[in-house]
Amino acid sequence: MCGIIGCVGRDGETLDVLVHGLSKLEYRGYDSAGVALGGNGVSVTKRSGRIERLRDALEDDPVEGSVGIGHTRWSTHGPPTDANAHPHRDCTGDVAVVHNGIIENYQSIRDELVAAGHDFASDTDTEVVPHLVEAALADGADPESALRQAVDRLEGSFAIAAIVAGTAAVFVARNDSPLVLGLDDDATYLASDVPAFRDYTDRVVYLADGEFARLDADDWTVTDETGQRVQKEVDTVSWDAEETGKSGYDHFMLKEIHEQPRALRQCLRGRVDELSGSVDIEDLGDLSPTGVQFVACGTSYHAALYGAQLYRQAGIPAQTFLASEYATAPPPIGDALVVGVTQSGETADTLSALREARHRGARTLAVTNTVGSTAARECDHTLYIRAGPEIGVAASKTFASQLSALNLLALGTAPVGDAREAIAALRDLPGQVQELLDESRAQEVAQLYQDAGAYFFIGRGHQHPVALEGALKMKEITYKHAEGFAAGELKHGPLALVTENTPVFAMVVGDGEQARKTVGNVKEVEARDAPVVAVTDGQTDVDRYADYVLDVPETHPCASAVLANVQLQLVSYHTAKLLGRSIDKPRNLAKSVTVE
Ligand code: M6R
Repeated sequence: MCGIIGCVGRDGETLDVLVHGLSKLEYRGYDSAGVALGGNGVSVTKRSGRIERLRDALEDDPVEGSVGIGHTRWSTHGPPTDANAHPHRDCTGDVAVVHNGIIENYQSIRDELVAAGHDFASDTDTEVVPHLVEAALADGADPESALRQAVDRLEGSFAIAAIVAGTAAVFVARNDSPLVLGLDDDATYLASDVPAFRDYTDRVVYLADGEFARLDADDWTVTDETGQRVQKEVDTVSWDAEETGKSGYDHFMLKEIHEQPRALRQCLRGRVDELSGSVDIEDLGDLSPTGVQFVACGTSYHAALYGAQLYRQAGIPAQTFLASEYATAPPPIGDALVVGVTQSGETADTLSALREARHRGARTLAVTNTVGSTAARECDHTLYIRAGPEIGVAASKTFASQLSALNLLALGTAPVGDAREAIAALRDLPGQVQELLDESRAQEVAQLYQDAGAYFFIGRGHQHPVALEGALKMKEITYKHAEGFAAGELKHGPLALVTENTPVFAMVVGDGEQARKTVGNVKEVEARDAPVVAVTDGQTDVDRYADYVLDVPETHPCASAVLANVQLQLVSYHTAKLLGRSIDKPRNLAKSVTVE
């Protein structure tokens, strides 16, 4: 989705800071990019396509300024053209604006502005903003009030940054779309996401909905909708700038897959007491839910399916809903808890479901990776998964951390019996993941089956969400057809798709009934000549029916899903690499999906 960067006070370096910031925002997904430099005048350079095109344009025609804003656009209103790229300008060329989100009432405002003589240069909803600012300036408003007056007219979601010729400041407004300020001694920054300026500072201020800010080189102020000054807390980012680099790996995704042992350790740190078997999660208090509804999208939805299983196993009714379908969910009953699982904490569908849950009177909990995110701020409680920044669009380490955090949540809020074994398994998990990463033969599997027509993934119980996640990862980064099924469902329809050209990945762990039944399903596909890749800890005889075996260590049931999933991540990654796909930025996708 779109990204914003801005900076004031880096005289002579403003352009470099903006372009570097844009490159750090690339992972969010975009199809055009642009910058505006201000000072006495305002100059705008923007291009459709990759940031390299923008860089080339800036090399051909360099611009300077003491203040600047930049943007990566992910098209919503109008195709990805130079004209539709941000920043957008007013008629005089003295105002430049970048915007994330959607302005729902832009058409009526645009009609009104056109009737008043304003010329529009793009198809975007955003362009009404600089023209509204222009009109307010013409009426005598100062730049800060002009933006406030413009924002007063807008309905929808927005993070807006504006510069105005003659003022060395950036003016910003936030409603329903994230914005964070970065503070240094002699410069200030703003961005939709911390990585954009993390190389320069770790001191941040998260803006809340309805807040405005003015950034000067050596000062910053935040005000509310009425113009009253707001005292903001300055936070310190806990991760290093290097964490947003590739550290020698070919892709962020591979790096993040390999970061899983560390992420899992961080998730557990200080939250469990192995001797007593107790879990103590900071700030959660005594939740003791009588029922739980999970809401989430994509990979986080698969983690949420797993979370609901954990609660049901503990005897607490729990359901999982796709966040975008939550409107049709039954109202949460009694003392129910609604849990939004969201890596970014900014996914519009999930935020909307959580708001609906609050509206229905439920307590809400965000399970998120992102400190200061909207989900974290709006929910009654937050459980951070502590995975560190994830740049690859495909979620990898955050899924592992979500599963680990959901185990902690269930153990801490719905205890059943002695938790010591489960806690010990979670403690051993990072080491086992490391071992698996060191010894995985996933690359061989990828080589063998890179030309397959489609890939199917099957599993039961905790391995069912893993099957769904394995398929999502495969389709997302290889662009090949892939589906995940509950293993028992295969014979109720999908078996018709199974051929010698459709490898079936079967997750078979433990020696219980679910594992044995999955072996039966493996026999069914083997009888139809499909190649079988068993992801197994070797406790059944599934290897007799498999063409290839990917080993996972034996462990407690609460930890096996993470391990099996790591093998599937690696198969997808290596397949995508062999196929030459854009692994970190798959086509059409964005890291943080801030529209419904
Ligand atoms: O930030 P969120 O966890 O709320 O994102 C939800 C999905 O958009 C996300 O998990 C998506 O499915 C992943 N990129 C898939 O790898």
